[in-house]
Amino acid sequence: MRGIAQNPFRDGFNFSVFQNRTLARVAILVTAFVISAASIFYTNNIASQLRERERRFIDLYAKSLEFITNETGNENINLIAQDIIMPNNSIPVIITTSEGQPTSEYRNIEFPNWADTEEKQKEYLRERVAQMAEEHDPVTIEYKGPDGEVFFTQIMYYQNSYLLRQLTIYPYVQLTVIGIFAFVVYLAFNYSRRAEQNKVWVGLAKETAHQLGTPLSSLMAWLDYFRADEDFTHPEVIEELEKDVEKFRIITERFSNIGSEPVLKDESMHGIIQQTVQYLQRRVSSKVKFKVMVQPEELTGKVNRSLFEWVIENLCKNAVDAMGGDGFITIHVFRHEGRIAVDVSDTGKGIPKGKLRAVFRPGFTTKQRGWGLGLTLVKRIVEEYHEGKIFVKQSEVDKGTTFRLLLRP
Ligand SMILES: Nc1ncnc2c1ncn2[C@@H]1O[C@H](COP(=O)(O)OP(=O)(O)OP(=O)(O)O)[C@@H](O)[C@H]1O
Ligand SMILES: [Mg+2]
Repeated sequence: MRGIAQNPFRDGFNFSVFQNRTLARVAILVTAFVISAASIFYTNNIASQLRERERRFIDLYAKSLEFITNETGNENINLIAQDIIMPNNSIPVIITTSEGQPTSEYRNIEFPNWADTEEKQKEYLRERVAQMAEEHDPVTIEYKGPDGEVFFTQIMYYQNSYLLRQLTIYPYVQLTVIGIFAFVVYLAFNYSRRAEQNKVWVGLAKETAHQLGTPLSSLMAWLDYFRADEDFTHPEVIEELEKDVEKFRIITERFSNIGSEPVLKDESMHGIIQQTVQYLQRRVSSKVKFKVMVQPEELTGKVNRSLFEWVIENLCKNAVDAMGGDGFITIHVFRHEGRIAVDVSDTGKGIPKGKLRAVFRPGFTTKQRGWGLGLTLVKRIVEEYHEGKIFVKQSEVDKGTTFRLLLRP
């Protein structure tokens, strides 16, 4: 309850935003899955009906062929030939001898360009027969003499019609197209959301720097006034005031840098980190021990000094919090795959596996007084302003955590 009193948004913010976002994602995924499954099921159902119809048609086709031959002289032959055999212009059919050799009776077979001689066309027909045999059981056509005994058999091989083949792949094509479309829409949304966020960050930071500027110059002027005044006999007041004004100046500079295109310079990693650590050491419990290792010591990185200090400060503050003010913080800087790696390790409570990425999201905090903005800011500074990377290199609950930064040399 104390936490809520101290930070009225924390509970609502942290909980509803992240719970809802995960829920919404799950809901969207489940809906998408159900729609896809239903669509595939429905088209498959139609396809299997059509397949059944094509099979019956082939049976009928075979029977008609038997009939035509067996009932020579029947005047219905013309009708059968016209209404059943001729209209089959969609199902590929090849009639073979009883030994499986293609005859010249086939329908809806298109020869490829290479099959330019009769021999090659036969070869092609044989290939198709093999394909057809894999797809459907062939139908035997029995030709009978006038006394009813079979004197000749042929085999009819067939394949799904073009329509049926298309219908079978249709839902997959459809889902792929919808999927690509959804992905593009998602990217566009994401992009515009980021652009909006950028505007808010930059605008707010600029405004803050601007607002802080006025009292800061005023304070500096007052400081000069006291320094010049020989009657003022409290040098320790001036000293303390100088420190606060300097801190104030640094904060203003940070906001001003976030609000504009920051200038990156070759800076000594050892210098920046050592300075930040010294500053922090004075402000945290003496039970927190810092260790800085820069290898080699003269290593430089392309950074904006005031923003980079802010990054280190935020990471170290989180580390101090995670250790409850008692433990070791190690900052290790070294060359790594053409980049400069900065590992900030602590011996704190660690981050549970499922939260490794969530810690960078705005508003994610486990602290009563936290805003969940520290790491969001760090990630922004590293990725947007330094073209670098930041991630949790390693973390184990109750053992400690290592954050890794990768920067341009
Ligand atoms: N070194 C660490 N060890 C363990 N957990 C950490 C560490 N650093 C960050 N976290 C977790 O990530 C959360 C988010 O950190 P972040 O710095 O963004 O916000 P915060 O520290 O909670 O609040 P603030 O806005 O004041 O920085 C923390 O609340 C904490 O749970
Ligand atoms: Mg923090």
